[in-house]
Amino acid sequence: MFHFPTAEKYGLIWAFNGATPLFELPDFPYPEDELAIRVEAFEGVLPVDPWVLCCNTPDMQHIKALHGVTFDQEDPDEDIEWTAHSMLYDFKGRHANGEPIEYRIGIYGTSIFYQSSIFDGRWFGFLAPFGPPRPGRTTTYMIVVARKSDSDTASTEAFLQFAMQLEKKVVGEDVPIMQTIHFQPGTLTKSDKALGKFFQYLRDYPRAHPSAEFIT
Ligand SMILES: [Fe+2]
Repeated sequence: MFHFPTAEKYGLIWAFNGATPLFELPDFPYPEDELAIRVEAFEGVLPVDPWVLCCNTPDMQHIKALHGVTFDQEDPDEDIEWTAHSMLYDFKGRHANGEPIEYRIGIYGTSIFYQSSIFDGRWFGFLAPFGPPRPGRTTTYMIVVARKSDSDTASTEAFLQFAMQLEKKVVGEDVPIMQTIHFQPGTLTKSDKALGKFFQYLRDYPRAHPSAEFIT
């Protein structure tokens, strides 16, 4: 059997699709041993490749129009931190029900969503790694983390539960759109600047199929 490079982090075992990992797994601003972690699988399989789901993150218009988030500032198109294997940006605003938020969000590779967030004054982290059970399909895992030092164990568990439900609701809002979404060249607008750049990131992203010769 082919052995993919693997790592254990935040309650999951991660595998890299390539002979050698091109980037480190994302870190939160606090060490893992200071974090309480909750991991779940999101119910259902989406009929898209993981990169399609990743396009939501640079799609700032959908964050506002679909998820009801408001930004305190203009779209931070120019402030996105791009590398060959990740993109990250910050924004402040309000969540759908008016809670103040300060988010740092991004994509690692073409299959990991990252979020470091202060929601209504309290920090939590969220990771959504997208797995491809087969071409054209995505399964979503959900990791929420909170600082153990912010409250006692029972309150931390309750907060993790709250954060998990919050993020499940957000992902749930994307689900109907993922049933029919298709991107078409020539249809982006000026407000899709970050999304357009992300398409180029995806085109430039290295392809790998290291286990090919093990599959007959
Ligand atoms: Fe979304």
